[in-house]
Amino acid sequence: MKIDTAELLTSCARSSDFPAPGAPEVAFLGRSNVGKSTLLNRLVRRKKLARTSSTPGKTRLIHFFTVTGGSRELRMVDLPGYGWAKVSRREREGWQRLVESYLEERPPLCVTILLQDVRRDVSEDETLLLEWLAERGLFAVVAITKTDKLKPMRRAKRIRELREQLDLPGDRVIATSSATGDGIDALWRAILGAAYGN
Ligand code: GTP
Ligand code: MG
Repeated sequence: MKIDTAELLTSCARSSDFPAPGAPEVAFLGRSNVGKSTLLNRLVRRKKLARTSSTPGKTRLIHFFTVTGGSRELRMVDLPGYGWAKVSRREREGWQRLVESYLEERPPLCVTILLQDVRRDVSEDETLLLEWLAERGLFAVVAITKTDKLKPMRRAKRIRELREQLDLPGDRVIATSSATGDGIDALWRAILGAAYGN
């Protein structure tokens, strides 16, 4: 999509702060440090829109971004990552409740992008999340991230392995790199297909 504007709409610590439903929403979900905020920035071609960090746990609130292009408008929703060891159980449960409350009561949510680092195996966290999403009728696409970190042969092998581990239709697993831009067009096609049917 051609991007005209991309800006932060609001950041929420609790579900009562969520903005009133508007444009179709695309949510970014996945382990901390997997590259959610970076991928969101790459998709909208803004380097510093969503805050990124090499320290896991950067995104602790739910950030809503409004993106417009031509006559279209979307919201991109950057969710806090899971699996970050350095937080108390209490804090972790708080984030989980926040993320679940978003995913469970959000009519405009049309696609959830679950990110998976190319160098890691799919864990129970991802498998259970995909099941949880499917049970609620939420459409999910997996973006394999950071593919630039591997040399071509190893990369191709890892992508094959992850596709096998994921057990999803081929067009719902997209290999990406926010560094090189690989897979970004394919991800846009999946997003626009879910949001507008084309
Ligand atoms: P939390 O907000 O903690 O949940 O993390 P996040 O999933 O938003 O990760 P973030 O986008 O902040 O990226 C984490 C680190 O990975 C940063 O140092 C990024 O520069 C790096 N990174 C993200 N995507 C890529 C990629 O495609 N290639 C490379 N080489 N590095 C990446
Ligand atoms: Mg983040």
